[in-house]
Amino acid sequence: MAETETHPLRRRLPDGIMPEEEITRTENRWVAVMLGMLGLMMVVIVVTGITDSLHPPSNVETIDPTTLHLGGEFAESNLGTAREPDGSVTARLVADQYAFVPSCTLVPADTPVKFRLTSTDVIHGFLLPVTNVNTMVVPGYIAEVRTTFTRTGVYSMPCNEFCGSGHHGMLAKVEVVPAEQFPTLTADERTSCAK
Ligand code: CUA
Repeated sequence: MAETETHPLRRRLPDGIMPEEEITRTENRWVAVMLGMLGLMMVVIVVTGITDSLHPPSNVETIDPTTLHLGGEFAESNLGTAREPDGSVTARLVADQYAFVPSCTLVPADTPVKFRLTSTDVIHGFLLPVTNVNTMVVPGYIAEVRTTFTRTGVYSMPCNEFCGSGHHGMLAKVEVVPAEQFPTLTADERTSCAK
């Protein structure tokens, strides 16, 4: 190496800063940007959690997925929407490859709604866009989500966990009707909008 050549990292920049110092400064800047992003995401999670009641599903209830059809809460005659004594409603659904039963869930607006779902086979997802409803439906467990719909209309309900070759076609609906249009149900009546 000739006398006049200097190693690139030893060479001084025009403004007199050593390249190593410049590298350290750049690295520190990126660490600060990353910490800022982490902090921002944490704030978003906490704020949406509080203001939009978004929270990880925490209901741990187990059920035997092999005997769902034989009786109990998820027997076919008990699926659909039920009226509770306190005026709220409970909608029960079963997810399996590749459909939800019932395929159209009827619920009243401005009324507390509790969804209870389970799966007969693999993991499915239950998501209602633009609401706080988003949960996995895991075989062996009952997923429970509570919400109140303020807008009437039809919400599409795509399965949002890859569950097999028919996953893309696994789609159901939730129809929200004004509270006064929701049928009066006795304790053991169930309703749905499935055709
Ligand atoms: Cu069920 Cu994807």
